[in-house]
Amino acid sequence: MLSNEGVKRGGSPPRWVAQGTCFAQGRLELVTFASTQPLPPPAQPRDKGRRHLSAPPRHSSAPALSHWSPGAASFCRHAGAQPASGISGRRRGLPAGECSDLPPPATLTDRRKTERRGGGTRRRRRRRNRCSVRCPRRQASTMPPLKVCIVGSGNWGSAIAKILGKNIQKSNRFDPVVKMWVFEEIINGRKLTEIINKEHENVKYLPGHTLPKNVVAVADIVEASSGADIFIFVIPHQFITRICDQIVGLIKPGAFGISLIKGVDEGAEGLKLISDIIREKLKIEVSVLMGANIASEVADEKFCETTIGCKNEKHGQIFKELMQTPNFRITVVDDCDTVEICGALKNIVAVGAGFCDGLDFGDNTKAAVIRLGLMEMVAFAKLFCRGPVSIATFLESCGVADLITTCYGGRNRKVAEAFVRTGKSIEDLEKEMLNGQKLQGPQTSAEVYKMLKQKNMVDKFPLFSTVYQICYEGRLVQEFISCLQNHPQHM
Ligand SMILES: NC(=O)c1ccc[n+]([C@@H]2O[C@H](COP(=O)([O-])OP(=O)(O)OC[C@H]3O[C@@H](n4cnc5c(N)ncnc54)[C@H](O)[C@@H]3O)[C@@H](O)[C@H]2O)c1
Repeated sequence: MLSNEGVKRGGSPPRWVAQGTCFAQGRLELVTFASTQPLPPPAQPRDKGRRHLSAPPRHSSAPALSHWSPGAASFCRHAGAQPASGISGRRRGLPAGECSDLPPPATLTDRRKTERRGGGTRRRRRRRNRCSVRCPRRQASTMPPLKVCIVGSGNWGSAIAKILGKNIQKSNRFDPVVKMWVFEEIINGRKLTEIINKEHENVKYLPGHTLPKNVVAVADIVEASSGADIFIFVIPHQFITRICDQIVGLIKPGAFGISLIKGVDEGAEGLKLISDIIREKLKIEVSVLMGANIASEVADEKFCETTIGCKNEKHGQIFKELMQTPNFRITVVDDCDTVEICGALKNIVAVGAGFCDGLDFGDNTKAAVIRLGLMEMVAFAKLFCRGPVSIATFLESCGVADLITTCYGGRNRKVAEAFVRTGKSIEDLEKEMLNGQKLQGPQTSAEVYKMLKQKNMVDKFPLFSTVYQICYEGRLVQEFISCLQNHPQHM
């Protein structure tokens, strides 16, 4: 196969030389070609778009700024936000930093011509003018900056605050101050908010990491949320209803949010998504962000990916600007329910993986738990989600990647292993092992079990159901293996 690496232009024949690699008799070899034919014309815009998709994203240290204004009908594509339809159907947002509307870079001859006419600056001015006609770039700079409020300050909340605070400092689209609501606690005689605001470290939930100075801890949720345009919800799911209740009716018109919360709650029909609770209470649009994102690794800036589920393309792009970094790469898709339900259900599977570790089963067993768990996740999503469930979403970071990382590294796995080895209750282990952090897996299994029972479908989801019965009904943990042996997938 020939690659076109190292294309060089020449004057007289040969007019171009290409170096590449090819497979010859099973070996990869470097080959050189020369031709007297003119160089092929550059790719047309349509082709460029395609190539762009498969090309690795440009990782710039600064998040790309799209020239968006809330009043504008659409994005300026100078920021790289091309329409979703031009991508791959359901995936949204191209890697930041590309600019498809700008003319191609001037050749040396072009530049000389322009210089001779003394039009270097005029040319640049013309480009700028073209931009302001096509998009609301100038208007955007006069728009009031968007205020961001983070609701939550645990392990994940603090890690995301670190990213957000830094990204916002590089942008003039957002208000530089990020208010972070903190559930007030006393640590060694001092208020946690005071420690965060003076020492810029969440010593309880993310010790060892400096938070940007523009992240301001606020203990009062009404004060923290006042005037906010964008809400980032990142608290354990058991607290979301109570928090929302305190700010009902106080939300700025036009505000919108994103939920990073993994879990589900009880609803009239058995189960409710956390984003639905927020939507219904606060009457705002809510997207979701889920992925293989263990907070401490994200805070250490170790490379990972994540998925945003978002129906509103503009919001998706804004969230991407707020949170994407070279080491935290975001894909935006539109089936939000599937993204969110993946984030909740994978914690149940992780509890099962922890049981297997506690019983000293090996990696093969864990792989089977992951696979069977994934099958139940897909089946449950089809049963539960509104609208079509795209299997492709399970291949995003929010699906299989999050499942793997949680079954190897997460707190649910860790506590479940200790549950088997020590014989202590889940509640006691949560208090002993997690230093105030909350478990999601067992509680999610209880919510899911309730719904399966209502629908008379417990038998179809033996992994989910057995995790619940072991955690809450005293079923023997050894029976988890017989549940795998008799799984409907093998019948
Ligand atoms: N930690 C991770 O690696 C990670 C990664 C991805 C997603 N998530 C999800 O993010 C969400 C938040 O998790 P986290 O890791 O930031 O939190 P956490 O479990 O580390 O911390 C618990 C948080 O709850 C707060 N809290 C304690 N009691 C409270 C009360 N009575 N009312 C309100 N708040 C109270 C604490 O102040 C603290 O901020 C969860 O849904 C979790 O599943 C976590």
